[in-house]
Amino acid sequence: MNKDVLRLTRVGRSFGSNVALRGVDLSIRAGERVAVLGPSGAGKSTLLALLNGSLQPSEGSVELFGVDTAHLSSRTRRELQRRVGTISQGLDLIEQVRVMHNVNAGRLAEWGAPRSLASLVWPRPDARLLTALEAVGIEWAVHERTERLSGGERQRVAIARLLIQRPDLVLADEPVASLDPTRAAEVMELLGRVTDAASTVVVTLHQPQLARDHCTRAIGLREGRVVFDTAVADLAHDSLVELYAGRA
Ligand SMILES: Nc1ncnc2c1ncn2[C@@H]1O[C@H](COP(=O)(O)OP(=O)(O)O)[C@@H](O)[C@H]1O
Ligand SMILES: [Mg+2]
Repeated sequence: MNKDVLRLTRVGRSFGSNVALRGVDLSIRAGERVAVLGPSGAGKSTLLALLNGSLQPSEGSVELFGVDTAHLSSRTRRELQRRVGTISQGLDLIEQVRVMHNVNAGRLAEWGAPRSLASLVWPRPDARLLTALEAVGIEWAVHERTERLSGGERQRVAIARLLIQRPDLVLADEPVASLDPTRAAEVMELLGRVTDAASTVVVTLHQPQLARDHCTRAIGLREGRVVFDTAVADLAHDSLVELYAGRA
C-alpha cells in the first residue's frame, strides 16, 4: 500500500546555463500531502513539471508510479495522464467555453478525443459532472462562460476538473497565490476534501501556515536545492527565515 508514488534520484534540470534544480533526491509515498515552499525562482514549478513527466530532467531520473518518465510508451503516457491531475499556475482553463467543458477536460484521458469532441458539440451535463460542480459549490455555473467567473470561482472550476478526473496524484502549482487569506484557506480545504485518503498531493505554496494546516510534509527549495524536508509538525521558524531570507 505504502508504495512510492514518486522517486527522484539525483535530479538536475538546467535551461541553458540557468540551473533550475540540482541534486534533488526525493521519495513521496501514497497518501502524503506535500507542500513545496520557497522563494520565487527556487525551482518549484520546474519540480512539478518534472513530477508529471511534462518536463524531462537534464540529470538523474524521475519515477512516477514506478515508471521512469524518460521511457514512456504512448500507452503508458496516456495512463499516467489519467492518474495524475495537475493544476498549473495559470489554471489552464479555456476562457471562451462553458464551465462544463473545462470540467469535462478532466475526462479527456478517459474519454479519448472523439467522445470529448462530441461532448463539446452536444453538451449534456451528466450526473458525475453535476456532482463535481456541487462539491465545489458552483453547480449554478455549469452553463456559464468561464471568463465570466471570479478568481475564486475559477479556482473551483479547476478543482472540479480534478474531482471528475479522480487522479491518484494531484500536483498543484500555487493554487491559492491570487486569493485572499480566507479564500486561500477555503481552496486548500476543498483540495483536501476532493482528494481521498489514498491520493497523494504535492502543492507549491507561499504561506507556511497553509502547509501546517493542510499538509503532512514540507519541503523547502532554495536556488534549486532541497534545504529542508520535514513533517509539518517539525517545521521550524528558523528554517523558514533561512529559506526566504537566505540566512539563519
Ligand atoms: N522554460 C524555462 N526557460 C528558461 N528558464 C527557466 C524556464 N523555466 C524555469 N526557468 C528558470 O528556472 C529557475 C526556476 O524557475 P521556477 O521553477 O519557475 O521557480 P519557481 O516556480 O520556484 O518560481 C528560474 O531561474 C527560472 O528563470
Ligand atoms: Mg512557479
